[in-house]
This record gives sequence, structure tokens and C-alpha cells, in this order.
Amino acid sequence: MSQDRDSLRATARAGSNIAFLKYWGKRDAALNIPLNDSLSMTLSDAHTTTTVAWDPDLKLDEVYIDGERVLDRRGVRVSKHLDRIRAQWYPWHARVASVNSFPAGTGLASSASGFAALTVAAIAAYGEGLPDPDELSRWARLGSGSACRSIHGGYVEWRAGTDHASSRARLFMPGDAWDLSDVVVLVSGHPKEIPSSEGHAIAARHPFMAVRQQLLPARMAAMKGALAARHLPTFGELLEQEALEVQGIMMSGTPSCLYPAGLTIDLIHRLRRWREDGLPAWFTLDAGPNLHVLTESRFAPDVVERVRSVDPRLECLVNRPGGPVTLLSHHLI
Ligand code: PMV
Repeated sequence: MSQDRDSLRATARAGSNIAFLKYWGKRDAALNIPLNDSLSMTLSDAHTTTTVAWDPDLKLDEVYIDGERVLDRRGVRVSKHLDRIRAQWYPWHARVASVNSFPAGTGLASSASGFAALTVAAIAAYGEGLPDPDELSRWARLGSGSACRSIHGGYVEWRAGTDHASSRARLFMPGDAWDLSDVVVLVSGHPKEIPSSEGHAIAARHPFMAVRQQLLPARMAAMKGALAARHLPTFGELLEQEALEVQGIMMSGTPSCLYPAGLTIDLIHRLRRWREDGLPAWFTLDAGPNLHVLTESRFAPDVVERVRSVDPRLECLVNRPGGPVTLLSHHLI
């Protein structure tokens, strides 16, 4: 060890991400190897900051999320991820404190940013330097699949691969290559009825999945082409097609995962009318009711204004392409 025990501490911040082409269904559930490649944008304003302090005298991990000690499933998941990391480095327990920039219970996925920040803080806290981004991405993937994309900033591609070594995310295009915004409309803060871990398993046995896998390589190529060419209408049409295909599989699975709320569907109808009126904005959805409206950043204020005109109480979180995971010198504990 290069450091004394007082300095076995590090803090990392990672942005969440929104998938344009989705990871839904796993080839290997233990290693979070997906059935298909996916493509995302890291979010500038939905991030998690996590401090990990290893303590050789501690008998159990202590996990705090948004200021509260967590002993439920979330704490168990954090400890399970630390188990993997300490099996490779030193067998100590840790105090972990994590805060989300977005309010808890908004239904925004915190597992991508959470596991990316946890991975980097935990490894950095050993004081022996960080592995390269490919390796960090693999480690983050073991905590939560989508977390492997949050190691990078900008536009990110996760190559599904076939095993632990080949399944990792890499930068597709820097964030400043195209100034898109993801306007997240917070439709509901209720916890998901069906967590994504179960959703992935239901999807993997869905009869439509084989057809989806055949369609995806062409869609990925087209989507990457539209991003590289910064062609918003082509990108938008592919974005919606992908979102609706995945929702179709979610809804028609056994059991059914019906993630959109009534208001989500109402907003989609309105968005399509706004588009006919000239607003170039398209949506995507994840495993929840919040609507993600993608547009060029110059049109984001217009999207927010129109959403607010539907109901002034509706909250919107505007995200531009965020940066990669970073180490901070200010610690939470
Ligand atoms: O990383 P997980 O297991 O929470 O899965 C995320 C799945 C989606 O958010 C629905 C899609 C994606 O690619 O992020």
C-alpha cells in the first residue's frame, strides 16, 4: 500500500445516462452481458457523487444514500459490488456516502451514475491508481449494466461483447460534437413496479426478442450515422422507433411491464402535435414513466415552456451532454 489508512478515501462523480438504443435483455445475468450493443448520452445535470472510505477495522460496510443510512436492498447491492472489488484488491469494509443531484424518488435511474461513481471511488480509495477506462467500464458494468456507459462523457457506445473482457463501453462522439438536450419530464416519482433486473429477464424470454436482435445492427448503424451527421429528424425518428419497440416488448411480456403513466402517453400525443407545429423534438422512455424529450439545446426552453403549459406543476430537468466520471478532492465523509 502506498498510503496510510487515513487516506484510504476517494470521491467520484458520475453522470447518469439516457440510452438512445437500449440495453434490455441480458445474455449473461451474473456478469450483466447484454443481448445487444447500446448507445447513450451521459447527462450533465443528473449525477451521483460518492465517497468510499476503506477502514481495515470495520466489520461491515456502512452505506449512506442522500444522508440516510440504508440497510435495505440498495445497501446490499452496494456491498455486493464492494465484495467484487475487495476480492481483487484488499479485503476491507468501507463507509460509503452517496448523494444524487436529482431528488430521490423522481423515478430517474440512479443506478447508472451510482455504480459508476461507486466503482471509481472504491478503486481510487486504495490509493494505487486507476485502471484504464475500459477496465473501469467493465467493473462498473458488474454493478449495473448501464453504469458501464457512465464512465465516459458525451455519446457512448456499449459493445455487448460475449464475455467479461469484451463487454465494455467506449466514447462514440464527444459531447461538444453536437449540443443535444434531454429534457426529462418528471411524470411520477413512484418506485418502479417491476425493477429492471426482472424486466431484463422477462425481455430475454420474449418471443419478439429474436426479431429485435435482427433489426438492431441496421438501426445502430443508422443512429450512429444520424448522430455523426447531426441530422435531428433522422435521429429523432430512430429514437422513437427504438423506444416504442422496447416498450412494446416490456408491455407484452409475461408478466407485463407497463411503465408509461397516462400522463406519459398524453405528453407523447402533445409532443407529436408540437412537432407538426415545427418544434423539432422527439422522445424516448426508460423503465419508468418519465418522458425524455431529445432536441437541440437551443429548442430546450421551448420544450420546457410547452410542457409547463400543460401543467405548471410539471418539473423538467434539462440535461446537456455531460462529462466523464471524475475524482473530486472534496469528500462527503
Ligand atoms: O442498468 P440497468 O439494469 O438498470 O438497465 C437499464 C435499462 C434501461 O435503462 C431501460 C435501458 C438502458 O440501456 O439504459
